Amino acid sequence: MSEWISVALPKGRLGDKVYRMFARAGYPNDEIEKEGRQLVFESPECGVRYFLVKPSDVPMYVERGAADIGVCGSDILMEYEPDVYELLDLKTGICRMAVAAKENFADDCSRALKVATKFPKTARDYYGKKGRKIDVIRLSGSIELAPVLGLSDVIVDIVETGTTLRENHLKVFDTVAPISARLIANRAAFRFKRTKIEELTEQLRRQTEERK
Ligand code: PRP
Repeated sequence: MSEWISVALPKGRLGDKVYRMFARAGYPNDEIEKEGRQLVFESPECGVRYFLVKPSDVPMYVERGAADIGVCGSDILMEYEPDVYELLDLKTGICRMAVAAKENFADDCSRALKVATKFPKTARDYYGKKGRKIDVIRLSGSIELAPVLGLSDVIVDIVETGTTLRENHLKVFDTVAPISARLIANRAAFRFKRTKIEELTEQLRRQTEERK
């Protein structure tokens, strides 16, 4: 196999779904779905090398060329704005970025709104457009706890099934953006490995169309 393509996949639920799409596209790997701590998986027969990385790190691997292509949610692209090509909406990992708060929340416009989030830029952009002053409280997980404990007034976070909100007596007050998984490419790799990347993209695109 003359040309290798390296692919950064997000570890976890989204990565599992996306890997299956790559396998169906003709780029399988026998080891990747097995439990274990291995992070690099090579399939010499189809010239693909998979890396499993933290979802929010995917754009960094791709932008810097450690991976030729990768998959991450549009939430991550919106937050980090990496200098990469966005090749395809994979129409999986569908959820939304939303503003949520306690069911009885009422905004007190006399002071800055306390917003807990993993997505500070997204939150600033959203409230900036509304002209609402905010105090961003940056957290890295279990964001829903912040309004429950009074650490914040609202959260800006991912809502998928809504279960986490419901079970913590929170509700959605607004949708910031719909989210889905995107295929991204390093700009230089896309030039040098264009044929192979386009072949792979086309196979993935067919699957997204079959799903319609
Ligand atoms: C995400 C998100 C919400 C939850 C939403 O968290 O931050 O907490 O999923 O999903 P739901 O609407 O289906 O309940 P994640 O599982 O990534 O973990 P985290 O708390 O570490 O961010």
